[in-house]
Amino acid sequence: MQLANKIALITGASSGIGRETAKLFASEGAKVAIADVDTVGGQTLIDEIKAFGGTALFHQVDVSVESEVQNWVAGVVHEWGGVDILVANAAVMVIGTVEQATELDWDRVLAVNVKGYAFCAKYVTPQMRQRGGGAIVNLASISSFVAVPAFAPYNTSKGAILQLTRSLAYDLAPDNIRVNCVCPGPIYTPAVQKVANSLGLSDEDIVKQFAPLILLKRMGKPQEVANAILFLASDKASFITGTPLMVDGGYTAY
Ligand SMILES: NC(=O)c1ccc[n+]([C@@H]2O[C@H](COP(=O)([O-])OP(=O)(O)OC[C@H]3O[C@@H](n4cnc5c(N)ncnc54)[C@H](O)[C@@H]3O)[C@@H](O)[C@H]2O)c1
Repeated sequence: MQLANKIALITGASSGIGRETAKLFASEGAKVAIADVDTVGGQTLIDEIKAFGGTALFHQVDVSVESEVQNWVAGVVHEWGGVDILVANAAVMVIGTVEQATELDWDRVLAVNVKGYAFCAKYVTPQMRQRGGGAIVNLASISSFVAVPAFAPYNTSKGAILQLTRSLAYDLAPDNIRVNCVCPGPIYTPAVQKVANSLGLSDEDIVKQFAPLILLKRMGKPQEVANAILFLASDKASFITGTPLMVDGGYTAY
């Protein structure tokens, strides 16, 4: 068990990559605390984890509201006594060019995808420091490096996560807190399906559109990203901090 006796906090785990990560972490022995705005998905996840003997807690939290993040972390610490790992994963996919995006679009994407990550790091850090160290894994994206067309607000937010990761790594290294980010390419999740469907693309069209752009000629699976998150969160990555790990089937390799 790679995460035996660890306490892991994961945001946005009611769906997609976060959900698979929560299940994987629980199967590796971590106690998993999940925060999401989606309570139905969160509750079914808790049931799934408990069904295989794992330990999990769900809190309804909007990560863009600082007080909600603060209360969530305090609640987990009250229940379990500390924090070892944070996976900051909750995000919204706001599409459009700069001309199309509204002020509300910008406010939402920056509040959830940037400030939300920073708030989570802010409140877990003192807890990790008290325990002598910890690991933070942020979900960035290929969009942190290359621009996906007509996705300006989202691309911008993911570029920010790369720099937030480096800033945190720099500031928290003296406390033995490692901070890295995982950069997925196109992964088949409900978020991608929703965006594609809103653009009039069917589920089959999504695969046809993305697959040729990827060296491995297929979209990724949420479990494949979860495996990379597990590696960075685990002691096997003990000399890795401040780095982005591409999980993109080679999308950015050419
Ligand atoms: N799927 C991809 O192709 C892909 C590619 C690159 C990066 N990513 C990143 O991976 C992460 C997970 O993406 P996914 O595809 O699994 O998305 P998803 O939509 O399936 O899951 C995201 C979860 O975040 C939750 N959430 C949204 N806003 C929230 C808020 N304000 N507070 C709390 N929870 C909130 C949603 O309810 C949902 O459960 C995101 O950071 C995304 O940007 C995904």
